[in-house]
Amino acid sequence: MSETKPAWVRIENLKDHVGQTVTLKGWLANKRGSGKVQFLHLRDGSGYLQCVLGAHDVDADTFERVKHLQQEASVEVTGLVKADERAPYCQMELQANGIVIVGESRDFPIQKKGKGGGDDHDPGFLMDHRHLWMRDRRQWLILRVRATIIKAIRDYFDDHGFLLVDSPIFTANACEGTTTLFETKWFDDSTAYLSQSGQLYQEATALAFGKTYCFGPTFRAEKSKTRRHLNEFWMVEPEVAFMDMWADMDLAEDFLSTIVQKALAKHENEIAEILPSTPEEKEWMTKHLDVLRGVKAPFHRISYDDAVKQIEAIRAEKTDEEEKKLLDIHWGMDFGSPHETELTKRYDKPIMVYGFPAAVKAFYMKKDPNRPEVAMGFDVLAPEGYGEIIGGGQREDNLDLLQKEVERHQLDVSSLGWYFDLRKYGSVPHAGFGLGVERTVAWVCGLHHVRETIPFARTLDRIWP
Ligand code: 4AD
Ligand code: MG
Repeated sequence: MSETKPAWVRIENLKDHVGQTVTLKGWLANKRGSGKVQFLHLRDGSGYLQCVLGAHDVDADTFERVKHLQQEASVEVTGLVKADERAPYCQMELQANGIVIVGESRDFPIQKKGKGGGDDHDPGFLMDHRHLWMRDRRQWLILRVRATIIKAIRDYFDDHGFLLVDSPIFTANACEGTTTLFETKWFDDSTAYLSQSGQLYQEATALAFGKTYCFGPTFRAEKSKTRRHLNEFWMVEPEVAFMDMWADMDLAEDFLSTIVQKALAKHENEIAEILPSTPEEKEWMTKHLDVLRGVKAPFHRISYDDAVKQIEAIRAEKTDEEEKKLLDIHWGMDFGSPHETELTKRYDKPIMVYGFPAAVKAFYMKKDPNRPEVAMGFDVLAPEGYGEIIGGGQREDNLDLLQKEVERHQLDVSSLGWYFDLRKYGSVPHAGFGLGVERTVAWVCGLHHVRETIPFARTLDRIWP
């Protein structure tokens, strides 16, 4: 009878195999040891595990090769799964009795220097090596939280009667202003743009299916190098027929609370591990986890008028002239990052600012019938200085008013005929919003910059790797 090979098990499923002999397949995240015993820190994509290999567990040649293995060499390790409370990572370890070296690795560029691992390198170097950097434990944690948030987003809408109806990527018209359009040639004699938002199409699908959402990459040719801006980012956009701005805000509040609580339930320990190395960071993270636990309805609702007053008061307290200048504000101005940062630093719950000046908002926003200078749109700003993560509101459902706005914004009317049709045939009040995935992940994980929240970031100076 031939011997059966031990089963190949992934680390995330190992707790069901305690006391069994199994094979793990992965890469060396780290290694320490002596001539007698080697402690191999194996990562297999699903988790991390310490494998203990004694000099007498394998032949002398193999042990010698293992001693010289470097970070990121790929291996298959066979051994006995043991529960051990003191073991790093997951209170289990593998008592190895066999190892196959699959692929060598020499001088992995992102060496584990200090405790921070990849964090010891400068961001430019790390971004140049993103294809390798994503093997770093911190990046692994962040991208797993991202995946959970994306699943929670889909589950929320699927479970609340929304139909997923995708919007196109190539479009003929601007949605969020003409200055940030990525333009491309469309065959011989016409132009196409990469979608800035799927919203206009969701207005069509909502009128066909009632409640819909799209979820995809969106593109903005923004020439800003801030910690909040990417040129390619992912946005989820629900749209609902027969809904006004207030009900839209209720929806955004329930939706955001649900996805944050799901991310926290699954990843609290992992989020706690992402940032802290200094005592200050540890203290911040403790507070941050409390803030996340408190992300539940009701959020603070603040009119734009009041938000301006709050920013004026914050500005008045500043003594530094530079800071004061950045916080310049008067009724009619849109908020910039400094305004949002200073305002939301003072809150420990998301805030919803509504009723922005129509003049600084997109052409499709419905105006308040009692105050036509005000748009019935809102932003959800994440607390702790993070700022806008959701933008949305009620859409103009009156054809004449909409056409006037299209003219005022000097948009190409010929490409919007289909959009006007939505106001000609059974127009109804409707509303929706867009949530940016990367800004949400950055806030939930407590990150300084959005570049770490997307597998391969596209920014002003980077379209590779
Ligand atoms: O506020 P925005 O521009 O709204 C829209 O696009 C609407 N059409 C959405 C809708 O109502 N269906 O963008 C929505 C969100 C922002 O709140 C932000 O989270 C994210 O998209 N976002 C960006 N994220 C990263 N980099 C950028 N350059 C972003 N621009 C917007
Ligand atoms: Mg916005």
